[in-house]
Amino acid sequence: MVALEQQLLETRRQTWQRELDATKSAEERNRLGQFATPYPLAVQIAAYVRSLLPPAHPPLRFADPSVGSGSFYSAAAEVFGADCFDLATGIELDPAFADAAENLWGRSGLRLVRGDFTRLITRDACPPAPNLILANPPYVRHHHLDRDEKLRLQAIVLQRTGLKTSGLAGLYVYFLLLATTWMEKGGLAAWLIPSEFMDVNYGSTLREFLSTRVTLRRIHRFDPAAVQFDDALVSSAIVVFENTTPPAAHHAEFSFGGPLAAPVVNEPVSAARLRASRKWSGFPRHATNDRQISRDHDDGPRLGDFFRIQRGIATGANDYFILPRAEARRLGLPDACLRAILPSPRHLPATVIEAEADGYPRIEPQLCLIDFDMSEEQIAARHPALWAYLQTGEAAGVRDGYLVRSRSPWYKQEQRRPAPFLCTYMGRGTQGKAPFRFIWNRSAATATNLYLLLTPQNGLAKMLAAHPDRAAWLHAWLNQVTGDELRGVGRVYGGGLNKIEPKELARICAKHLLDQWPEISANHDMQGDLLLQ
Ligand SMILES: C[S@@+](CC[C@H](N)C(=O)[O-])C[C@H]1O[C@@H](n2cnc3c(N)ncnc32)[C@H](O)[C@@H]1O
Repeated sequence: MVALEQQLLETRRQTWQRELDATKSAEERNRLGQFATPYPLAVQIAAYVRSLLPPAHPPLRFADPSVGSGSFYSAAAEVFGADCFDLATGIELDPAFADAAENLWGRSGLRLVRGDFTRLITRDACPPAPNLILANPPYVRHHHLDRDEKLRLQAIVLQRTGLKTSGLAGLYVYFLLLATTWMEKGGLAAWLIPSEFMDVNYGSTLREFLSTRVTLRRIHRFDPAAVQFDDALVSSAIVVFENTTPPAAHHAEFSFGGPLAAPVVNEPVSAARLRASRKWSGFPRHATNDRQISRDHDDGPRLGDFFRIQRGIATGANDYFILPRAEARRLGLPDACLRAILPSPRHLPATVIEAEADGYPRIEPQLCLIDFDMSEEQIAARHPALWAYLQTGEAAGVRDGYLVRSRSPWYKQEQRRPAPFLCTYMGRGTQGKAPFRFIWNRSAATATNLYLLLTPQNGLAKMLAAHPDRAAWLHAWLNQVTGDELRGVGRVYGGGLNKIEPKELARICAKHLLDQWPEISANHDMQGDLLLQ
């Protein structure tokens, strides 16, 4: 295949890809893991991999285990030269894509194998082992894999690698692990995969594999603030490795931002450090990395030293248990069985919530939560209106809900005292802007699990009891915790959505708090206690 022919075929491929994409909804493509690699990105990846090959490399046997219409095969042909492969294999499950790839690239030497890659590689008739893999595997999230399929995939991975895979892993994790067992020792592989494996618990198998079993050469992440390709790729990483056990003192390059050939920042990170790190997206450690690991993070004071951080209340049926206060009054529900509760962050008008004289927040509409501890007999006898409302919950099946039926009585909620500070639990927020908001709640309202509740404890609680006026400074400080730092401890999900768990928020550096009020430190308390004694 000459270069001109490759270019013509690539143009045809792009049209064909668009037509195939248009036959399915985004939801369907998500379920099937069908998001093609933009051609310029496939070329960048192929060029980078070629730069790693020694001049006298062995003959190349290319493979893409989920070839789609052949974006990577086409890019490799452009970069390596049209007739450079001894063998080229593309595997594809979807017959329409398999037809396209075969039709476009069959004549130039791509051997198209139809079927499920994760099944093909366990068979004797598995295609010959490649020494060059370029792949963008189906991302298919775990909830689209049924139980039997997960068990099957976990069993093959265990049998071929000795590694256990979490049931929360997406299909791409199995693809990468299995394809590496298929490829030749010493071969090179480049994978475009979701970057969340770098941080989340289910990614630990992959992190272990990449830091102990293969020689990781590079992990590059794009800067979400400077999207180069399509939005779906902002949370992807390019992972490049050699299929050999890593040499002692091996370092891998971690880069962030810019194109692969000229990243904005990069840092060599030792395999030993990677093995010891629970989160990888903080590398390279640099201010421009949106997930940098805070320097003074490891040994300094943390938010969790001064705040008890819990998730808000999970009612199990917000539409039933939470209602406008005016509606509760109209129905005649007794005040004693209701508690003030904040609306969802989307409907919260400000970051400071003032209180009315009765403790309810000064917002409209005020909401209340049904929450009390009384037997059904007592309610029936004393509060007929509430009794009638409970009957509607029974009739609507609320009582049979998973969370609700585990409570006794079913209308008594988890007990969470109103917290003076709240953190919104998920958000996007671009570079520099924090993905989460901190709310100062001066009312007696509690909140649902759309918030994390921050209740001052230890030295900070004592200090605020003595100086309530300092809460405003504390609130302003919380909102100054930068987006980078919050992203650094939280996790990013597909499409750039950030989430933070109570334990993660607790790890935020709180050195500034101590600088501002040295008396809140635990050491100071101990000294005070000693003096009192
Ligand atoms: C993310 S797309 C990537 C396609 C192509 N490699 C590219 O880079 O544009 C993944 C492809 O894998 C295919 N696929 C999904 N499950 C598969 C499986 N179990 N075995 C082989 N191919 C599969 C999908 O139909 C889709 O074409």
